[in-house]
Amino acid sequence: MDWHTRYTQQAGWTRDLRVYIFSKIKLSRMTPVLEVGCGTGAILSGLPPRTPIHGLDLDPAALSECKVHAPAASLTQGNALRLPYSSASFEVVYCHFLLLWVGDPLQALLEMKRVARPGGQVIAFAEPDYSRRVDKPDEFIQLGKWQTESLIKQGADPSLGANLAELFFQAGIKIVETGTIQNLSGDTSPAGWEMEWAVAEADLAGSVPDADIQRMKLLDQIARAQGKRVLSVPTHFAWGSV
Ligand SMILES: C[S@@+](CC[C@H](N)C(=O)[O-])C[C@H]1O[C@@H](n2cnc3c(N)ncnc32)[C@H](O)[C@@H]1O
Repeated sequence: MDWHTRYTQQAGWTRDLRVYIFSKIKLSRMTPVLEVGCGTGAILSGLPPRTPIHGLDLDPAALSECKVHAPAASLTQGNALRLPYSSASFEVVYCHFLLLWVGDPLQALLEMKRVARPGGQVIAFAEPDYSRRVDKPDEFIQLGKWQTESLIKQGADPSLGANLAELFFQAGIKIVETGTIQNLSGDTSPAGWEMEWAVAEADLAGSVPDADIQRMKLLDQIARAQGKRVLSVPTHFAWGSV
C-alpha cells in the first residue's frame, strides 16, 4: 500500500473545508501551526509556504516520508496523548483522520487544547462514523460490516465521528463550527476506485476469504457501471477555539 497516495486522496476530500476554515482564521498570517498525527505530510505539504509548520506522529516511517513531502516542517516523533510541547505553543492545532485511532480521543483533544495559545484554534477536520455507513444495493451491506469489523480489529473506533462535537465540549474547546463533510466518496475515477479497493483488500486479507472479496469487487464494478452503487460514510469535522 502506498500510504502517501492514499493520504493524498483523503486530503483531497477535505480540501474545500480546509480552504474555508484556514481562510476564516487567516492561517497565512498566523504562527505557528501543528498537525497532530501528520502521517506522510499529505496536508502539511499543502500549507502556505511561509507558515511555521510543525508535525507530530507516532510512526517514524511516516515521519521519514513526511520529511520528503514537507521539507520545511519541524517534525517530531511522539504520542498525541502526551504531546511533547510546552503549553500555549501554537496558534492552530489540527488533526485529520486521527482521533479514531488514538484510543483516548478526549485525552488527545485535551492535549491539543493545552498546546494551543489562548484564543487559538483546535480543528479536527475529518472523523468518520461507520455506524451510519450507507451501502446500496443491499448486497454491499456485508462489505460495510467486513470493513467496520476490520477497523475495530486494527484498534480504531469506527463511530468516533458521531461523538466528535461532544468530545470538543468535554475537552472545554468552544465550538466555532461543526458538521459533516459531503461527497467523500466522490472520487469515482478509475484510480480512485482502485485505491479504495486496494485499501479494502489490504484491510480484509486474512479475515475474509479472498474469493469473497474478489466477488464483492466484481459486483461493485458492475453496480457502478450500472449507476446503482451508493456508498456514503458520514464524516464529521469540528472547529473550536480555546
Ligand atoms: C490515517 S493517518 C492520517 C495521516 C494524516 N493526518 C493525513 O491525513 O494524511 C493517521 C496517522 O495518525 C498516526 N497516529 C495514530 N495514533 C497516534 C498517536 N497516538 N499519536 C500520534 N500519531 C498517531 C498514525 O501513525 C498515522 O500516521
